Amino acid sequence: MKLIYQQMLSFLALIIVALTVVSLLFIQTTASSAWDNNFRQLAGFTNSIEQHAVLNDGTVNAPFLDNSQQILASQQISFGIYNAKNQMGYPQQKQQGIDKKSWRKLKTGEDVSYRGWVEVPSRNGKAELKQASIYYRPVFYSGKLVYVIGAFAPVKTIQASLAKTQRNVFIGFVISAIAALILSYFLAQVQVRKINRLRNATHEVAQGNYDVDLKSSGNDEIGELTTDFGEMTDALKAGREEIKRQEDRRRQFMADAAHEMRTPLTTINGLLEGLAYDAIPEDMRAKSIELMRNETGRLIRLVNENLDYEKIRSNQIILHRTTFNGSEDLHNIVSQLTQKSTDAGDVIKLDTPDDLSVYADHDRFVQVIFNIVQNAIQFTQNGTITITARRGYHQSEFSVSDTGIGMTADQVKNIWERYYKADPSRKNTKYGESGLGMAIVHQLMQVHGGKIDVESKQDVGTTFRLSFPDEDAAPSKQDVAKRQAKSESDHASDKA
Ligand SMILES: Nc1ncnc2c1ncn2[C@@H]1O[C@H](COP(=O)(O)OP(=O)(O)OP(=O)(O)O)[C@@H](O)[C@H]1O
Ligand SMILES: [Mg+2]
Repeated sequence: MKLIYQQMLSFLALIIVALTVVSLLFIQTTASSAWDNNFRQLAGFTNSIEQHAVLNDGTVNAPFLDNSQQILASQQISFGIYNAKNQMGYPQQKQQGIDKKSWRKLKTGEDVSYRGWVEVPSRNGKAELKQASIYYRPVFYSGKLVYVIGAFAPVKTIQASLAKTQRNVFIGFVISAIAALILSYFLAQVQVRKINRLRNATHEVAQGNYDVDLKSSGNDEIGELTTDFGEMTDALKAGREEIKRQEDRRRQFMADAAHEMRTPLTTINGLLEGLAYDAIPEDMRAKSIELMRNETGRLIRLVNENLDYEKIRSNQIILHRTTFNGSEDLHNIVSQLTQKSTDAGDVIKLDTPDDLSVYADHDRFVQVIFNIVQNAIQFTQNGTITITARRGYHQSEFSVSDTGIGMTADQVKNIWERYYKADPSRKNTKYGESGLGMAIVHQLMQVHGGKIDVESKQDVGTTFRLSFPDEDAAPSKQDVAKRQAKSESDHASDKA
């Protein structure tokens, strides 16, 4: 059964039950109050007859009663007076009296009222057996029952008016039921329309269209469901975009990696051919072999660095963070790179306190600083490289400045990209530029929960600033993962 009919049916069932109960109660109450009124009226008549129409000795003021009878004739109300022996004294002298059960009660001084078949007395002597409401009132004098006044009203009149009420209630019932049917149709339609909107949206999503814009309709459950549905499609959309981004990354990676490897492989191949066909003079052979070793070394490094980058990026590396004296490492790095800097005509200045507490993975820390200083030397000829280190607020802070070629704002923006080289012609130097160094450094800083930024001006120089949080300020692994994911998506949207 369609939902709209189910809804209508339940609405209708509810309304009809309610209407039935109300109608029955109404009829019941009206009837009982009508009967009560009727008896009260009869009681009133018996009371006034007691006052005016019967003397204490039981003799009847017949003219008064006759007048009253005539007045009340239109209402078909009649009276009867019974003596202490339960014989009728008015309107006729008759043996016949009140039924035994009622008489017993009357003798105890109680009024008796009931509905039943009774011989209603009349003036002309033709007593009729009628269904009537009956009221008997006993009158005592000096503790002795003297007479009983009876008042009779036919039930037909009351029943007729009750039947009229019942008919009206029934008409009201039918009209309300029709109104309820129409109303329930509209109410059900409102609900069904909301559900249909969701249904259409679900259909769209099933077809792969996540761009359904559902406006939440109200604060009810369907409204909440609509909101949840919207969140779900957003999540699906984000998921699909993420998959697409991953796919793009993978494709880009394959293209870049192939591109990076082709150069050294072509060089090696050329040299090997030269050697094979004796095209290389004897004195150049050693040089050629040296060149090939360099190129294979570069290839190995490229592969390793790629693996390292992927591992860090996918949060697969385990950091062994400890607190150590970073000053010693800075001195070591400087001495390792002194030869290179001298070759480039650079001077390295190191400004660090003797004791500098750093909280990081020791090897990764060295890797980061080494890479940055190495870059500084690489891109600076006859200049100065200044390394400073100090303690900050719950962190250790470093800066590496050079007076080298610097970068444009655009180049700075892309520096953390994998395979990014500001000047692609600067390939294949003795430092083996692959454009992976800074991407790895950036990822490493992120997994440490540290910060890194770069400031650079073309032909003036470059400054890298970085900080490692202390143990008490370092973020949890989950926080780091979240940050990585965010920077990844920011990156993607920047690129787009
Ligand atoms: N100190 C610097 N001065 C000027 N340019 C820089 C500096 N550091 C980095 N760059 C620019 O950023 C690019 C990316 O640096 P990155 O270290 O990632 O790659 P690379 O040094 O070219 O290669 P790799 O470090 O992988 O061998 C560099 O090619 C260079 O153009
Ligand atoms: Mg580098």
